[in-house]
Amino acid sequence: MIETTKHPRPSGETTTARTLSVDLVEQYHRDGYVHIPRVLGGSEVEEYLADAGTQLDRQRLVSWNAAEGGNVMDWVPEPENASELMRRLALHPEITGIAERLAGQPLRMFKSELLRKHTSDSAPTPMHIDAPAFPIAAAPVTLTAWVALVDVPVQRGCLTFIPGSHRWPEDAIPTVGEPYEARPELRWWPHVTVPVRAGDCTFHDARLVHSAGANYTDMARISLATVYMDAEAVYHPDPDAWYQDTVPDREPGQRLDGARYPRIS
Ligand code: SIN
Ligand code: NI
Repeated sequence: MIETTKHPRPSGETTTARTLSVDLVEQYHRDGYVHIPRVLGGSEVEEYLADAGTQLDRQRLVSWNAAEGGNVMDWVPEPENASELMRRLALHPEITGIAERLAGQPLRMFKSELLRKHTSDSAPTPMHIDAPAFPIAAAPVTLTAWVALVDVPVQRGCLTFIPGSHRWPEDAIPTVGEPYEARPELRWWPHVTVPVRAGDCTFHDARLVHSAGANYTDMARISLATVYMDAEAVYHPDPDAWYQDTVPDREPGQRLDGARYPRIS
């Protein structure tokens, strides 16, 4: 187990939707992901982290256990429906404002998950793309904001992205199987591992190939991952997908709108 001493928070202004540079927006489109430091201020992080701990203790958790053994992570599904603070974080005006600037169009929230990667017995998050898990008709923009509530150095299991892998040949996104099986050449593309400080956020396109490491430290990795989608998104379940989120209140072809899928700005 690796001990990580607490490092002081870097100084500097928080990044807002207004101050987000055009370069970072371009980088997001080119690479399929972007790391935005200091989206949350220090006192905000503490408030959200305290509530995240309460929710992880109290709510029903979903566990993802790796086939090879070990726990990839546990999560509270839809914590925004159990906690006012988690709702505030999932709909945080700067996180959602940045998401809309990156997407370049109006968005809605699809769902949120409060994630915990354990200190012991943890397993890496396998390489995958998110898109096949979302029962949303092809084409609309879908992206995830992953906000760190603790520092996540490499040893605590930060995310790794394959820049540019969100552009699939002929837009043929496989609904099953490993990304490396579908596109063997991806093994030889650069893989970028992105350590993040508490309060930083990464945003990634649902078609981008990504993974995360195991947590080898003495502190749990805690983050909130919120998925935002095209404001016009339509429910389109795919029976061939290996896993999809359930949407109990819609028929295929219906819009994902209303209070359950709020507009984010
Ligand atoms: C992780 O938090 O380890 C993975 C998040 C994701 O796949 O989007
Ligand atoms: Ni993912």
